[in-house]
Amino acid sequence: MTVTIKDVAKEAGVSAATVSRVLNNSGYVYEDTRKAVMEAINHLQYKPNEVARSLYKRTSKLIGLVLPDITNPFFPALARGVEDKLQQLGYRVIFGNTDGDATKEMDYIDTFLQHNVVGLIASVDRLHHEVLTNLRVPVVTVDRTTEELPAVYADHKSGGRLAAEKLVRSACEKIVVLRGPQDAKPLYDRFQSATQYLSENNVSFHYLDCQLSFEDGRQKAKELFDQFPDTDGIIACNDLVAAAVLHEAVTRGISVPTDLQVIGYDNITISEIVHPSLTTIHQPTYEMGMKAAEMIIKLISKEKLNTIHEQLPVFIKERNSTVNGGI
Ligand code: RIB
Repeated sequence: MTVTIKDVAKEAGVSAATVSRVLNNSGYVYEDTRKAVMEAINHLQYKPNEVARSLYKRTSKLIGLVLPDITNPFFPALARGVEDKLQQLGYRVIFGNTDGDATKEMDYIDTFLQHNVVGLIASVDRLHHEVLTNLRVPVVTVDRTTEELPAVYADHKSGGRLAAEKLVRSACEKIVVLRGPQDAKPLYDRFQSATQYLSENNVSFHYLDCQLSFEDGRQKAKELFDQFPDTDGIIACNDLVAAAVLHEAVTRGISVPTDLQVIGYDNITISEIVHPSLTTIHQPTYEMGMKAAEMIIKLISKEKLNTIHEQLPVFIKERNSTVNGGI
């Protein structure tokens, strides 16, 4: 049987309003009354109903987190950074996976607001950012961000350039870029900077559009090798797609990195596990999650932010899918 605030009041010989003042540390309560209430709470093992409490105080310790695809290991790493920091700060996360669908994003945001979240952290595509504006709670965008809102993101302009520069400096002359969904700002920025570098260095390239999954990567790798059999360098939109390219190269007897060099993006665990190990661009994913959590709590607490747009650096992690590989 659930113990209610009335049971505690009866046990302590006070009103429910007095118990509520003790629970919410609001208003004056005599010390011996407070002691009686706390003894009753402990004796009855009373657990405050957080939803009821948040309705009463119109605040909660809940933060909503909206991410596009938790089947991609990049996003769980991001979520873990958010959750670890929020835990440290006494907050909890409720989470929604949206598949980049605007309707699902709106549905989760409505649900979070109905559950009295006090802030929202979201990674959403460029075309959907209007769902995040004019909400009654602070919002921080992370990874897939917008200039109109507080944002934490990685330096993808450098990331794209680093990937292209690595292949050019490793003597690749016929490069294919597997371009990720351009509605996602990180994918747009790094495609632009990679191809700008290739053009500036007069290096021939083609590109194919590709989703961010291993499955689509396999399909596009087949198309790529059929259409461009003499390619000697591939810039993949992320590590899952790069792993699919390696898989198809092995199937076709193409030697990596001798005949073909491949570079991924994100530096998720799979990039170390595949054979040959994958050269990739490291994203500070966990740190971005931590920073986004810090930012949302400062906004909730109405603390001044040094900046509302925080860009974190990326770096190249050289492994064995490119020549002069590292490890
Ligand atoms: O692998 C998923 C990609 O989409 C990452 O590069 C990240 O930037 C996300 O937006």
